[in-house]
Amino acid sequence: MTSATGNLENKQVLLIVGGGIAAYKALDLVRRLRERGVHVRAVLTAAGKNFVTPLSLASLTGNKVHEELFSLTDEAEMGHIELSRAADLVVVAPATADLMAKAANGLANDLASTLLLATDKKVVMAPAMNVRMWLHPATQRNLAQLVRDGVIFAGPADGAMACGEFGPGRMFEPLQIVEAIADALSSDTSIPLPAGSLAGRRVLVTSGPTHEPIDPVRYIANRSSGRQGHAIAQAAARAGAQVTLVSGPVSIADPAGVTMRKVETATEMLAAVDAALPVDIFIGAAAVADWRVDGVGSNKIKKGASGTPSLKLVENPDILAHVANHSTTRPELVVGFAAETNDLLDHARAKLLRKGCDLVVANDVGEGTGVMGGTRNTAHLVSRAGVDSWPLLDKDEVARRLIESCADLLGTEPRS
Ligand SMILES: Cc1cc2nc3c(=O)[nH]c(=O)nc-3n(C[C@H](O)[C@H](O)[C@H](O)COP(=O)(O)O)c2cc1C
Repeated sequence: MTSATGNLENKQVLLIVGGGIAAYKALDLVRRLRERGVHVRAVLTAAGKNFVTPLSLASLTGNKVHEELFSLTDEAEMGHIELSRAADLVVVAPATADLMAKAANGLANDLASTLLLATDKKVVMAPAMNVRMWLHPATQRNLAQLVRDGVIFAGPADGAMACGEFGPGRMFEPLQIVEAIADALSSDTSIPLPAGSLAGRRVLVTSGPTHEPIDPVRYIANRSSGRQGHAIAQAAARAGAQVTLVSGPVSIADPAGVTMRKVETATEMLAAVDAALPVDIFIGAAAVADWRVDGVGSNKIKKGASGTPSLKLVENPDILAHVANHSTTRPELVVGFAAETNDLLDHARAKLLRKGCDLVVANDVGEGTGVMGGTRNTAHLVSRAGVDSWPLLDKDEVARRLIESCADLLGTEPRS
């Protein structure tokens, strides 16, 4: 997710406000969008009216609020199909469990659900609900379906809820939703679904950097943003896989519909990967630190009489080689990443053989490429059969192509 929220001037957003406690935040969302020059039309569900009034929404949007599917005046002025298509983007905030269920199943028995079914635009949903509702298998099934259908999820966040419980289900703050809206609007075309299905397959992805402590306050890190690994996890979920994403410390949002395991160090990442096995596909996109500091103490190293400290480094576990050579639970497909600054393809081929993986995604991270931390990547898919070189692509598109290749190699029948 980018942090830039510019360039929203004159964009048209259709905002659907569902019936949840967080509906009051939708009012602030409208203000934030209007400050950025966005034209907002609001649709309020019947349940939503119990939480915010049509008058508040109309005053803040400067537009009539749409509430009824069977409204003769509305149909004469702007019919429901036109309403769903006149916008550049449809945003649902709060997205209730009920609205998610309707959209996932194609129900269209009120204005909001009919618009979601009739639209040809991208849809961003900002879910908000009690943690039990969010974690309920029915909601998680609906979430997985909506991800496959290409709905973009902003949140939910973890935290204290209005009902007194704690956990995932809190609606993203308005500015976080604005950021997701800007992201969704920044690319003209939506990334299509990966061709081929990973339904019934288990996919494990690692992403981001690792942080290796020097002392309790300092650490060794690298420039990985996690964008590529997170995009791969998202693409795998969109292809129907059951995805676990083991992520080092990153500042981007969790992909929707995947099980997250958050870690700091390479040692923790290895433990999380081991705990997630067995899987059908392992994709090691994380930039795991090669070394960690030996003998990290519990006190901060002080500047002083003993001069400049020297750090003794020891090698970290090789997670990719560990998975690729697993004696009992080697995944059917093991994919590694090679980030190199020189002799890219030679290094990638050597890595493929040395580590025993099936595919290596080679990317040039040399000075000036902007790959590490950036949003685009020039990748080469290296296998024993040869090299498939892709042009400079958005990391979402690299992810989609990689998942398509994996689905291709695996065929359609999940292992029993
Ligand atoms: C006080 C109260 C708070 C509610 N909060 C939520 C909520 O945060 N999220 C949710 O999914 N449903 C919540 N509900 C239930 C929804 O309002 C209910 O499922 C409704 O049918 C949703 O309709 P809609 O999706 O058309 O807006 C709440 C209900 C009440 C009475």
